[in-house]
Amino acid sequence: MLKSFDIYSQNNILKIIVALNLLLVGTGSLLYTDRLISKLEIREQQYVQLYAKAIGYLVDTSHVDAGDLNFVTSEILEANKTIPAIYISPDGQIAMQRNIDIPVNQTPEETRQFLRQKTYEMRKNHMPIVVEIGKGERGLVYYNNSRLLRQLTYFPYALLTILAALSVLAYLAFSSSRRAEQNRVWVGLAKETAHQLGTPMSSLMAWVEYMRSDPEQFDGSITDEIEKDVQRLETITARFSSIGSVPTLKEEDVNEVVRQFTDYLARRISTKVKMSVTSQLPPGHMVKINKLLFEWVIENICKNAVDAMKGVGELRLNMVSLPHQEVAIDITDTGKGISKATMQKVFSPGFSTKKRGWGLGLTLAKRIVEEYHNGRLFVKSSEVGKGTTFRIVLNGK
Ligand SMILES: Nc1ncnc2c1ncn2[C@@H]1O[C@H](COP(=O)(O)OP(=O)(O)OP(=O)(O)O)[C@@H](O)[C@H]1O
Ligand SMILES: [Mg+2]
Repeated sequence: MLKSFDIYSQNNILKIIVALNLLLVGTGSLLYTDRLISKLEIREQQYVQLYAKAIGYLVDTSHVDAGDLNFVTSEILEANKTIPAIYISPDGQIAMQRNIDIPVNQTPEETRQFLRQKTYEMRKNHMPIVVEIGKGERGLVYYNNSRLLRQLTYFPYALLTILAALSVLAYLAFSSSRRAEQNRVWVGLAKETAHQLGTPMSSLMAWVEYMRSDPEQFDGSITDEIEKDVQRLETITARFSSIGSVPTLKEEDVNEVVRQFTDYLARRISTKVKMSVTSQLPPGHMVKINKLLFEWVIENICKNAVDAMKGVGELRLNMVSLPHQEVAIDITDTGKGISKATMQKVFSPGFSTKKRGWGLGLTLAKRIVEEYHNGRLFVKSSEVGKGTTFRIVLNGK
């Protein structure tokens, strides 16, 4: 059974709801503006028809004496301040144009050329409107959508982009506050555990001292064993108290630290696991670490490796130097491997495939390496049934 904390599935539902809303608002505004655009287009067309009619009256010489009418038509022609239009007279000449940005410094011929080109472009969008000028003669008015209408076409896309940007921002804000909250819980829990363990620990230490002082009554070898366990408890307490506060980093000889600690671990794990440590680092290579926490990382990864091998196999640690003064510690096992699908999850808190696993070991290790040591921890390679290599990268500077 795979376990995972509820907050993650809830978070996914929230994400889906937000995405659906976004989609709804997006398509809604798209449909709405689409309707608006087609309505406006009809209105603009009607307007151009009127405009064309006005031109017809104006150029039809039989109306010239009708002064009032002339006034009305020129009013209509002047009133068009938004729709680009070109009037081609019956003899094929460009006789009038409105609302077209003609490039400056052009010869009249170039301008004519430019306007002709415009009529071709306009024709692609709208069929020209016929202007009847009596005597069976016909002119044509070419036109385009007004600037307003063109802007409106982009509106839903602009809106969608803004909405998407806003939701990304909201998501980032939300997840960072969630992370901050997790951090507080995590650090608080660690501090509290260390604090609580403190009292029984010092009392146990006192008991050990007492037993030592009376070797007749208390068997010395038993006292030794108890003392070892108390020391182990002390290490655990010290680890918890270190992650509860900002740990201090010290220059340490990584080769030495890893070797010493794996010696200690080797004594505590199954003899059927063959442990080896190799290093391509120069002897005495110093790296800034917090020894106590770094050992915890190694322990977590090695314990997982032993679990993955069911207590039988090979566990190799290898240290190499990387460019930019970085140091890598590769921990390779011959265990069951990690499938591509679970690769993403192994560092998530609560993810465990073990009966008695909390799924915290790797989360903690990653935190210690990345947040306290400014390093990286990742699965370097893994093959199901063959084994896995975890890599810790430490900043050598
Ligand atoms: N070397 C490995 N080979 C194969 N699977 C691994 C290896 N290391 C980790 N895993 C997988 O990643 C999961 C998470 O590991 P993690 O150490 O975070 O938790 P855990 O070991 O299950 O529990 P605990 O909190 O006790 O450490 C494991 O349950 C296991 O499925
Ligand atoms: Mg573990």
